[in-house]
Amino acid sequence: MNPVNSRLKILKMFTTSGYKMNIPFNKPYLTGKEIDYLYNAIQSGKISGNGTYTHRCHSFFTEKYNFKNCFLTSSCTDALEMTAILINTMPGDQIIIPSYTFVSTANAFVLRGAKIIFADSEKNTPNIDADKIEELITHRTKAIVVVHYGGVACDMDKIMKIAKNHKLFVIEDAAQSIDSYYKNRPLGSIGHLATFSFHETKNIISGEGGMLVVNDRKFKRRAEIIWEKGTNRAAFYKGEVAKYSWVDIGSSFLPSEITAAFLFAQLENLEKIQKKRINLWEHYYSNLKVLEEQKYIKLPYIPEYAANNGHLFYILCRNLKERTMLINYLKKQNIMAVFHYQSLHRSPFYYKKHDGRKLPLADNYTTKLLRLPLYYQLDVESVQYISNRIKKFYGIY
Ligand SMILES: Cc1ncc(COP(=O)(O)O)c(C=O)c1O
Repeated sequence: MNPVNSRLKILKMFTTSGYKMNIPFNKPYLTGKEIDYLYNAIQSGKISGNGTYTHRCHSFFTEKYNFKNCFLTSSCTDALEMTAILINTMPGDQIIIPSYTFVSTANAFVLRGAKIIFADSEKNTPNIDADKIEELITHRTKAIVVVHYGGVACDMDKIMKIAKNHKLFVIEDAAQSIDSYYKNRPLGSIGHLATFSFHETKNIISGEGGMLVVNDRKFKRRAEIIWEKGTNRAAFYKGEVAKYSWVDIGSSFLPSEITAAFLFAQLENLEKIQKKRINLWEHYYSNLKVLEEQKYIKLPYIPEYAANNGHLFYILCRNLKERTMLINYLKKQNIMAVFHYQSLHRSPFYYKKHDGRKLPLADNYTTKLLRLPLYYQLDVESVQYISNRIKKFYGIY
């Protein structure tokens, strides 16, 4: 947009009382190459999984983040289910998971008969509180699943140390964590296993989509089998076995080349997408800082060891009532702001199975956290507009 038009647009925004923008919470961004690559995939004659585009995506992750063993999946949910199979989750095993997370983090293990031991969040971030993990460990504990909320790293050194001392697996649910880091180490490269999401709400998308990353080499061979419906087809294609057979449990976890082709177009634009999202995030932060200073809201906290991948921007309201009023106020201005997870220990499915411990910080994020629109096509002016509306709600603008 030329500067004159841009200025006119801002002017219109701030001076015309009746002027209304329509700002959805999320808009999938297309880089322009998706259709070309889909066409190539279709032309190639191979559109089932584990073909050229799948390999290209895997190579991208290996080159950029040094992920040694990648497995694209149809969703992060699928990748989590693969991890539950890989660590041999058995009925009665206990898996430690933050209560403040998406249902798939827990469901993958519940499907295999595990008991979920919910952990509380940190005071300063919605992430699992590493200092409260050890007290939850029993002789039945098998794994700790961490969720890097909004792409902000959990305290991985602490968590890996606890896991090592108690011989537990660590699984990183890195659904939101592409291109994010813990002490300069890419998220997804630290736990024994890690999972990513490419759902359309994420930074890099393929409609539905995900990936399993195997960091502990001992899982590699079995991951290949589980990925391919419990068969050794991967070994067969590599010429390692004469025929392929059913050798283990598994499922149809690998996505088609259509999904992989779409994803590859996105990956090629990762840097551009990240730069834009982080810039928008920073604008929200600086625009809303005054509200934090005046104690109306809290802004996201990024620990020193963590990076910001611009996945989501949230504010913490003072209570549920205020958050509901703010959501409704913004909705009236055609701005869609949304809350996020509901503590899983209180969910209709699990509350009776939960051991009754109170998890006040998970509940705190459940009732107070509000996510603001953040997507590639959003511009800085819109972020300013949204921020100004929020300031107006609090009566300081
Ligand atoms: C933390 C977390 N884990 C897992 C998932 C599931 O991802 P998918 O939709 O790719 O299955 C989500 C979804 O947003 C999530 O937020």
